[in-house]
Amino acid sequence: MIVLRRIQDGLQTELIGKEIHHFAEVTSTNDVAKKLAAGGAEEGTVIIAETQTGGRGRIGREWFSPKGGVWFSIILRPKVSPEDALRLTLTTAVAVAHVIRRMLRLNSEIKWPNDVLIEGKKVCGILTEMSTSGKIVKSVVLGIGINANVNVESFPEHLRNSVTSLKKELREEVPRERFLQALLEELERYYTMFTRSEFDLILEEWKELARFLGSHIEVVSCGEKLVGLAVDVDQSGALLIKTRDGNVRRVVSGDVSLQKL
Ligand code: BTN
Repeated sequence: MIVLRRIQDGLQTELIGKEIHHFAEVTSTNDVAKKLAAGGAEEGTVIIAETQTGGRGRIGREWFSPKGGVWFSIILRPKVSPEDALRLTLTTAVAVAHVIRRMLRLNSEIKWPNDVLIEGKKVCGILTEMSTSGKIVKSVVLGIGINANVNVESFPEHLRNSVTSLKKELREEVPRERFLQALLEELERYYTMFTRSEFDLILEEWKELARFLGSHIEVVSCGEKLVGLAVDVDQSGALLIKTRDGNVRRVVSGDVSLQKL
């Protein structure tokens, strides 16, 4: 089990992780976070679980969350409009990829919009959910799932070839508390840049870490399959694809894969 004190002792943040709730088992840390946020929880509150029985991924998918992983959510209250959620998700992916590179010396990359990969295999997913009132964002829940000390062989068969874990890549277990401490610190650093309207700097870093930018890709977005060249990501975080007819299409959600030629 994660020992909270080991995360909190020496944690160099002003906001994120000042309050941490830790559970042995929840349905989803995002669900717990959303309830706490609706009840007025402070910005920066973190919810961590050892395992999730109903872990959720993007696009209504399940998120397999066995013991040994790093499954957590953060409550934020940025003064932004709902359209800015995509930028915040990209920002989170940069922070996670940096910690994996800096602390663990693993070559992490980002696949648009927010998967963190190692050697082309997914190690982290991010699910951003928000509560709004008209055009006003009341709270954002950032849900982050990292396959830390989990055995890839225990994953459902259809996922085994496309996922990896930090333990598998390092050939040893990751000290989860120290890793979480570094994550909370890096997330706060990038969130501060985000709230200071420095997304252009974050986007530059995102592009340096991006996999598939400049490659021929397939994107399935809202049931439509688009094939073309991934030319760029714009200031709102949307992916720009140049299709065969020469048009540039803007995609705000979807699943990217390398085009099989
Ligand atoms: C994805 O890539 O589809 C997003 C996965 C997000 C998983 C995390 S684990 C912590 C939080 N709680 C959830 O139920 N989902 C997110």
